[in-house]
Amino acid sequence: MRRASDLKHIRTAVFPVAGRGTRFLPATKASPKEMLPVVDKPLIQYAVEEALAAGATRLVFVTGSSKRAIEDHFDTDFELEKLLDSQGKSDLADQLRSVLPSSATCIYIRQPAPLGLGHAVLCARPAVGHEPFFVHLADDLIDADVPCLKQMADVFAERQCSVLGVEEVSPADTDKYGIVDTGGDKGQIARINAIVEKPKPAQAPSNLAVVGRYVLTPAVFDELEEIGQGAGGEIQLTDGIARLMTQEDVYAYRFSGKRYDCGSKLGYLQATVEYGLKHAQLGSAFRSYLQGKFKP
Ligand code: G1P
Repeated sequence: MRRASDLKHIRTAVFPVAGRGTRFLPATKASPKEMLPVVDKPLIQYAVEEALAAGATRLVFVTGSSKRAIEDHFDTDFELEKLLDSQGKSDLADQLRSVLPSSATCIYIRQPAPLGLGHAVLCARPAVGHEPFFVHLADDLIDADVPCLKQMADVFAERQCSVLGVEEVSPADTDKYGIVDTGGDKGQIARINAIVEKPKPAQAPSNLAVVGRYVLTPAVFDELEEIGQGAGGEIQLTDGIARLMTQEDVYAYRFSGKRYDCGSKLGYLQATVEYGLKHAQLGSAFRSYLQGKFKP
């Protein structure tokens, strides 16, 4: 099958952030779920930092209602910076300044209706153009020595094809994920034969699940234009990728790192504890607190 691209460097990252985060209501009634903090940074900032580390400089946010806080977060707040400087809190002011490097550009596109992840990605088409791009779902927080998208960018540079971040999940949980079939290939990089959105365990081709990390070639947009409603009545990215696979190779990549499903309360709490324990300033005090709490 043909290689899909001749471009080595990926400069655009798409962040679909239009979902309402109903699992976290009422916390997410007026504030985006992507702004939930893990210790001291919102999920969307972890997402952006990962994309920047992978070489992206154009950050495309596909937004919906109640998402203005994301724009504000990545905008410069001169007044606050000036206030902090005048109070001698220049370290905090510097932290604000470093939220986004000046080399990065943010583009905000509104998804007019919640028609699904595939539709959200399609909304980004005018900003992405004819280049390969990252898709990053901020709910899936991945702690890794080499940021997950950077690992995948390296795979892309070598293979020049779409790459999906995957990991094995409990066979009982296949109906929460896009599930891939690699024909039993257990290698770190394996060509995908089939992909299906949220199959019931009895119908799932495997328990290898797509997590919220994708490198996609722009050909996926034509496929997304063609598909109708899929699982859950939504336009599914998975279905667009299934069609893309008839034209180009698509690879599954078993990333190195630990994923936290911050779309669930338990995963979010686990991430909070783990990131708290690793935090440069808070880690040791937090560890002592937990040890004291669980002393027999
Ligand atoms: C989406 C995708 C699914 C993928 C998952 C990863 O589902 O549709 O294929 O496995 O993200 O988190 P969602 O979690 O939005 O229901």
